[in-house]
Amino acid sequence: MGIRLFYIEYYICDVIDIDVVECSDLSLIAKLFKAHEDEPFVYLEDVQLLRVLSQLKSCKVFIAMVDNVPIGCIYAMKYMYNYGWIGGLLVHRRFRRGGVGKRLIKKALEFLKTPYTYLFVEPENIPARKLFESLGFNPIYKRLNCTFYTSSSGGYVCVNYDVGWEELTEALGFRERGGIVNLGYYPVKLTENVFYDLRRRGKVLRCGGIIAIIENSHRIILNGFSFTFNDYVLENVTVTLGESIVEVNPFYIKHKTPDFVRLLSYLATHGKVVVWTYEGDPVVSKFLSECLPGALVMEHRDILQ
Ligand SMILES: CC(C)(COP(=O)(O)OP(=O)(O)OC[C@H]1O[C@@H](n2cnc3c(N)ncnc32)[C@H](O)[C@@H]1OP(=O)(O)O)[C@@H](O)C(=O)NCCC(=O)NCCS
Repeated sequence: MGIRLFYIEYYICDVIDIDVVECSDLSLIAKLFKAHEDEPFVYLEDVQLLRVLSQLKSCKVFIAMVDNVPIGCIYAMKYMYNYGWIGGLLVHRRFRRGGVGKRLIKKALEFLKTPYTYLFVEPENIPARKLFESLGFNPIYKRLNCTFYTSSSGGYVCVNYDVGWEELTEALGFRERGGIVNLGYYPVKLTENVFYDLRRRGKVLRCGGIIAIIENSHRIILNGFSFTFNDYVLENVTVTLGESIVEVNPFYIKHKTPDFVRLLSYLATHGKVVVWTYEGDPVVSKFLSECLPGALVMEHRDILQ
């Protein structure tokens, strides 16, 4: 019975017309998410996030329609340094395994035309992982998300800004993260050009044996959900700013815990410290009570761009 039903649904998807179009009516997407809120890997906060990101010119929302009824959605954002970001993918349960998810992602990639595009997926979400892999996305690393409630240091400050590209690429954590850092929640790949631009802007620093790429962001609370945005997003949207957040991506020339603690207490003078790193980070793993396991980062490389 199950197989027959699946066949019929597959057949329906195959023969009926499905349009994938740009969507400006977010209430359609909200309804689709609400109808699936009981499912794992469906997050209502995506709808709140969309209310913010859809205000950006660089972000488009796409919807799959059958007879004017929404059956799937996705959003795509062109992010800093011309990297792409994809999120909010959902296909109505009755229309799965009919290629709708694939079409939505292809539409998003066609719009983005970015050399590298990223997404986060729960490691346990096998259907989504298989779908992304079938379209050329590769798993890079599992995130570890840590919030430190450190008091700021009034004492010895260890920080300087003299870091070279070669030094960073040889540091522990660089290869492990595929050269990816988080700037304001979203991933960016550190090429030499990106690195020197960040350095010029004072976002690359060193404390003893630790190199850190940092970003000053803000917490935003929307309908009870908490998000962290940097200026790239905040300069273009209307939201009420919450507390200051210092985001830290650590790399290790020498993995010394005291240097890490000194760095955190220095950065705590600028806001609450959030550390983005990878599962297996030898220094941050010592503070696991401050950390939550994060999603898998997947990367798509468009060789034509
Ligand atoms: C993940 C999701 C979007 C897939 O949508 P979909 O329309 O069913 O995907 P497609 O039909 O385009 O699938 C394309 C390929 O992905 C893989 N795939 C999709 N669903 C799968 C499943 N349940 N099991 C194994 N592989 C699966 C297959 O390789 C499939 O190709 P095939 O059908 O020829 O074997 C859908 O299951 C969904 O909405 N899930 C809940 C929300 C979610 O997890 N979103 C992603 C968050 S990161």
